[in-house]
Amino acid sequence: MTKRIRKAVFPVAGLGTRFLPATKSVPKEMLTVVDRPVLQHVVDEAKEAGIEHFVFVTGRGKAVIEDHFDMSYELEDTLQKRGKKKEYDALMADLPAAGATSFTRQQAPLGLGHAVWCARDIVGDEPFAVLLPDMVTMASGARKSRCLAQCVAAYEKHGGNIIAVEEVPMEETHQYGVVAIGKDEGATFEITGMVEKPPKGTAPSTSIISGRYILGPEIFDILEKQEKGAGGEIQLTDGMKTLAKKQAFHGVRFDGRTYDTGSKLGFLMANAAFALQNPELADSYRAELKKLLG
Ligand code: UTP
Repeated sequence: MTKRIRKAVFPVAGLGTRFLPATKSVPKEMLTVVDRPVLQHVVDEAKEAGIEHFVFVTGRGKAVIEDHFDMSYELEDTLQKRGKKKEYDALMADLPAAGATSFTRQQAPLGLGHAVWCARDIVGDEPFAVLLPDMVTMASGARKSRCLAQCVAAYEKHGGNIIAVEEVPMEETHQYGVVAIGKDEGATFEITGMVEKPPKGTAPSTSIISGRYILGPEIFDILEKQEKGAGGEIQLTDGMKTLAKKQAFHGVRFDGRTYDTGSKLGFLMANAAFALQNPELADSYRAELKKLLG
C-alpha cells in the first residue's frame, strides 16, 4: 500500500534570468498564460492530482505570489457591489482553503535541490510531489489528466519515486537532466540512471526530466549533506541519484504537452496553445493568427 500524496512543493525562488527584463520586478511565475498566472495553471494541475497542501519556496521580490493565493477584500467587495458575479465566483473557486498553503523562503538561490530541501519541515515524513512552476502542462484531450495526476497513478502502481519525462532530439539533450531506461512498460519504465547536462553525444537516452516528481522524504537528508554540482548549484538530480541507490525510481512518459514558460519561445507557445483551447478566444485568435501569418 502506498501512502497518499497530499503535499506538493513549488520552488519559486529562482531569478528568471532567461526572461529579463520582464522578470526584474515581476516573478516569472506570475507572468500570464492567457488570463491565469503561470503558477495558477500549475496549482490547478496539483489540485487535479489530489494535492491538499501547497508549499511555496519563495525568495525576495516574490511577495506578490503570497498575495495571489490570499483574499483580496477590496477587489472582492467591489466585484460584489457591481454585480460581477462571474468574476467573483472565478476568484473564489481559485482561492485555496484556509491553512492549505505554506510559504517558506530560500534565502539565496543555491539551486533547485536546495530549494526543495527548504521545504523539509513543512513536508515532514511523507512522500510528496514537486512541480517546477515554470513548466506548464496541457492534457492531450479534454478527458485526459495532466502530468502530475499521471505521476500519482504511476506512484500508486509502482511506489518508490517517480519522475515525469519528455522526449527531445538527441542534439538537445546536453541542456537537460537525462534518464537511463531499464525495464520498459511503455507509459512507465524503470529508471536505471540519471545525468545532469551530459556532454554532447553522451546522453543515455533522449528522455529528459521535465519538472514533475514524486519523492520519498529520505531525499531531505541526502540534500542536506549534498555538495554543489553542475553550475555551482545544489542539484535535485544529484540528490535523486543518491536516493536511487536505495530506492526504486520510475519514469512517466507524459501523454500531453509541456511548455517551458521560463524561456521566451516556450512562453509564447504556451499562450498560443492555451488560447487555441479557450472557447471564448479560439476562433477570433485563430483568425488573427492567420492574418499575421499572411
Ligand atoms: P530554473 O533554472 O528554470 O529557474 O529552475 P531560474 O533560475 O529562475 O531561471 P533562469 O534559468 O535564471 O531563467 C527551475 C525552477 O526551480 C526554481 C526556479 O524558480 C524554477 O521554478 N529554483 C531554481 C529555485 O526555487 N531556487 C533556485 O535556487 C533555483
